[in-house]
Amino acid sequence: MFPLHCFVLGSLLFQAGCYFSEEKSPEESRMQPPTVVVAIIARNAAHALPYYLGALERLNYPKDRISVWAATDHNVDNTTAILREWLTVMQKYYHYVEWRPMDQPTSYAGELGPKHWPNSRYEYVMKLKQAALNFARKRWADYILYADTDNILTNPDTLQLMIAENKSVIAPMLDSQGAYSNFWCGITPQGYYRRTAEYFPTRHRHRLGCFPVPMVHSTVLLNLRKEGMKKLAFYPPHKDYSWPYDDIIVFAFSCRAAEIQMYLCNKERYGYLNVPAKPHQTVEDDRLNFVHLHLESMIDGPPMHPSQFVHMFPKQRDLMGFDEIYLINLRRRPDRRDRMLFSLNELEIDVKVVDAVDGNALNSSDIRILGVDLLPGYYDPFSGRTLTKGEVGCFLSHYYIWKEVVDMEMDKALILEDDVRFQANFKRRVLRLMEEVEQVELDWDIIYLGRKQVNPGKEEAVENIRNLVMADYSHWTLSYAISQQGAQKLLNAEPLSKMLPVDEFLPIMYDKHPNEEYKSHFLNRNLQAFSTRPLLVEPCHYAGDPQWVSDTETSTLWDNDAVRTDWRGSHKTLKGAGPAPDMLSVGYRDEL
Ligand SMILES: *[C@@H]1O[C@H](CO)[C@@H](O)[C@H](O)[C@H]1NC(C)=O
Ligand SMILES: *[C@@H]1O[C@H](CO)[C@@H](O)[C@H](O)[C@H]1NC(C)=O
Ligand SMILES: *[C@@H]1O[C@H](CO)[C@@H](O)[C@H](O)[C@H]1NC(C)=O
Repeated sequence: MFPLHCFVLGSLLFQAGCYFSEEKSPEESRMQPPTVVVAIIARNAAHALPYYLGALERLNYPKDRISVWAATDHNVDNTTAILREWLTVMQKYYHYVEWRPMDQPTSYAGELGPKHWPNSRYEYVMKLKQAALNFARKRWADYILYADTDNILTNPDTLQLMIAENKSVIAPMLDSQGAYSNFWCGITPQGYYRRTAEYFPTRHRHRLGCFPVPMVHSTVLLNLRKEGMKKLAFYPPHKDYSWPYDDIIVFAFSCRAAEIQMYLCNKERYGYLNVPAKPHQTVEDDRLNFVHLHLESMIDGPPMHPSQFVHMFPKQRDLMGFDEIYLINLRRRPDRRDRMLFSLNELEIDVKVVDAVDGNALNSSDIRILGVDLLPGYYDPFSGRTLTKGEVGCFLSHYYIWKEVVDMEMDKALILEDDVRFQANFKRRVLRLMEEVEQVELDWDIIYLGRKQVNPGKEEAVENIRNLVMADYSHWTLSYAISQQGAQKLLNAEPLSKMLPVDEFLPIMYDKHPNEEYKSHFLNRNLQAFSTRPLLVEPCHYAGDPQWVSDTETSTLWDNDAVRTDWRGSHKTLKGAGPAPDMLSVGYRDEL
């Protein structure tokens, strides 16, 4: 009996095997991604949180494989409310959420201000990081991602990419407004930062890869499955620790003692980090730094996007003491208008958009009807051309504003073209400047905030006003303040009937134009012209920059609709001051 039984069983098995191989067996199902704990440690981060959380929620990683560990404490702003709002919505998507808010106290013992780091604060942050690590270990998480709340991971693949590197401790290199980033290439024997030859090539991505470094911080991924990681700790510091009492240095030492190498990766762009405010600075300083970072990211990309699940309060805008602030924008460049309106809103500045006169829409007879005639003998020595319609449109756009300033009897106005990049603390610096101008009762007609200086060395500082100089010959009209008296002087010169580019007209009027022949057509060249130093706005892009794009639809000559011109790459748009008085075309204006 026994062999028969075996036979029957064997044939059944055989049949079953045939059955599956004919129908093609189902493939083994895929592995689930490793589990990750994201540690959020937030303090006074209301300004950055909407963007931070927006980036987290867009990470290209299944949320049910992520647990969130979030702590917030010692706040004077709305950080707790924003985090709570976000977690309330998001907790159903994540595997698990641990929420540790603490409303009191709002400062640390011995703290000079919210940006100051007394030892009590370092210690508390180390304990928080350790608590998050303990939580991740207890839940057998494969990874823990620490990311400071002003680190905006705009690249949604960052987490996956870092995991794929298969390192114990790794950080994605983050970009800031300057040289600052979240890694060191060198460390002194005492545990302090040491700049080395590798830093800038790495920071500027001239060398790309994942590099062993002595320090990564701010955004760091730990692979908890690696055996050596069991020895790591944020707190308490290692028993041999004698370096500065600082959470990032304590952790770097712990890695060293455990023989774990930190890695920095810069193969792609992963996101941004805000330059930390200095110890004596305020939460507001931090916010302004962040606004600057955000506005820069809109120009150089990639942009940040806020979370959809966090309420954003409307900004309070004002005119900074001007009667009007004008933004000159070509209707057919809504991209520029939108960016400028967004930026000005972030800066809490009110603005009136004026539609620029579109030179391309004018034909030569329209131009004559407007009373425009060329300055006798004017031509651009660089290209040999005369005025373009774009230059006429640009001149008229500025001219109509001067006229409005006079007609409406404004005291002063500010003019901005739509292609500018704001320097950090733009609003504060303008406010302080205008306050000092009032205090010393400066007699002024125009004050440039953005232009191209031709002879910076020749410009004298104005007494008793910080950061103000007498303007020498300049190009461009990116931004300037104008007084009613200044606008009246410009109108009195009747410039339409002897037109040249507006940025050449202004230096003639303050008597600093190098061309005597042009100047001879204007008698009262007594405009009081000043400029901030440093300048408060710059062009978004310079000719020759990779991102510099000139409209190819450049305009035609003012008096001849047939001759098309294209001065892409004109020398005047090149970066930096330079004695180039014979090179007179502006990329910006070609587009107007
Ligand atoms: C903080 O949030 C509350 C409500 O959540 C709001 O009323 C208040 O205006 C916010 N404060 C700031 C400074 O945004
Ligand atoms: C990751 O690194 C470990 C050693 O730490 C190695 O054993 C493992 O094979 C690596 N995994 C991959 C996918 O390369
Ligand atoms: C110029 O344009 C106007 C409309 O803006 C039109 O009436 C006129 O005929 C045009 N002149 C020429 C010479 O094309």
